[in-house]
Amino acid sequence: MKLPKAKRFWIETWGCQMNELDTQRMAGQLMQSGMLPTRSVEDADIILLNSCSVREKAEHKVFSQLGRYRRFKADNPGLLIGLCGCVAQQVGESALDRNPDLDFVLGPARVGELSRILDRRQPGERIVATGFPEERLFDIDTISRAGTYKGMVTVIEGCDKNCTFCIVPMTRGSERCRPLEDILIEVEHLVEYGFLEIELLGQTVNHWREPGGQWDFADLLDRVARVPGVERLRFVTSYPRDFTPRMVEQFRRHPNICPYLHLPVQSGSDRMLKRMGRGYTIDSFRRLVEALRAARADLALSTDLIVGFPGETDGDFQETATLVEEVGFASVYAFKYSPRPGTAALNLPDAIPDDLASERLQKLLQLQERIQRGLNEQLVGAEMDVLVTGWAEPPQLQSGRTACHRIVHFPAEPDARPLGSIAPVVIEKANPHSLLGRQPTIR
Ligand code: SAH
Ligand code: F3S
Repeated sequence: MKLPKAKRFWIETWGCQMNELDTQRMAGQLMQSGMLPTRSVEDADIILLNSCSVREKAEHKVFSQLGRYRRFKADNPGLLIGLCGCVAQQVGESALDRNPDLDFVLGPARVGELSRILDRRQPGERIVATGFPEERLFDIDTISRAGTYKGMVTVIEGCDKNCTFCIVPMTRGSERCRPLEDILIEVEHLVEYGFLEIELLGQTVNHWREPGGQWDFADLLDRVARVPGVERLRFVTSYPRDFTPRMVEQFRRHPNICPYLHLPVQSGSDRMLKRMGRGYTIDSFRRLVEALRAARADLALSTDLIVGFPGETDGDFQETATLVEEVGFASVYAFKYSPRPGTAALNLPDAIPDDLASERLQKLLQLQERIQRGLNEQLVGAEMDVLVTGWAEPPQLQSGRTACHRIVHFPAEPDARPLGSIAPVVIEKANPHSLLGRQPTIR
């Protein structure tokens, strides 16, 4: 008997971990309806572009990709193309006018409806599903986690902070917290399935509160860390002002909470932080870092920085460089300020010329590269546990992540390690962005 050929899907993902998880959710729905992923976009019957709109460049990328895929429709008239993610929410219906070959637009809060929308769609119909319907909160049962080695779990969606530069509150809506019980059920299920690492997700993950209840993120961390089988627990992204002493305390209490924290500071200048509407000072950030390191001496910190924000003087930039030097971040994600539609920062005077912003970005990246190399060199000789996530070039090398989130490559000798397992690796060489090691000889 010859089985009918299954339809194929292709999803491209930009942006943050929430988008990665949304891609897993969309893949899950498509697979449940009998479709299979394809490795080459030319073979796809449906193409989904899961976009990011946090900076203008990311928005441009998705539209130029849409332009590229237009020609596939000539060969495959049944091909469906959907724009998903934050750009979908941001531009809505206008995307259909701009791109005659686009079949539907699906905002981040409508991801759970993908298969229903496709089922109901009439031939030739063009659909716009955006906005934030109340009844669609956390409808996240169908997730394909194929090929992933950490179980990502949404705990809070949206953001209410309204940092003056940021479009996220508009594209992902206002804050919604998921009940503790639901989170624990999903975590237990993932552990049972074999995941060793759990990552809790939210735009401001540490602002989680039990809906209508008393518990906060410290309680959530405590409860998830106690789930038997959770070997590694991470969470992203924390907002500095929302980090309480009780949350810091969880690092002391639970060794399975990874010694790694992403803590976006954005700038080292109080004046800039004020203009960004961040609601904390550098002094309070420093004190938080001190408290965290007192709780966990080996804690690796990473951060996000914006350079060239309106009004940023050489002095302000210098304060950022000083902070970077002083804290010693294990990694830094630095960006040039990009004006976004609908944000308050559009009205700020004293825009910074692009070449000056580029110059500052380069300086910062160079400084960070030096710091990072130094920090990574300190790890040479150490034996570290690595969660094996894949194969690197050349193919005899395997790759993985330490608990402190460094990328490690190591030869698959004497044996290749199963993907998703934790392997001990002795670090032999440090690069600024990765480590090289070997499996320890058996004693
Ligand atoms: N809380 C979110 C932040 C989303 S945006 C999270 O989960 O990561 C991610 C980072 O992009 C921000 O921390 C900020 O450094 C950067 N960013 C946001 N808006 C930006 C803009 N308009 N220009 C440049 N960088 C921006
Ligand atoms: Fe954006 Fe600030 Fe929220 S950076 S995601 S508005 S915390």
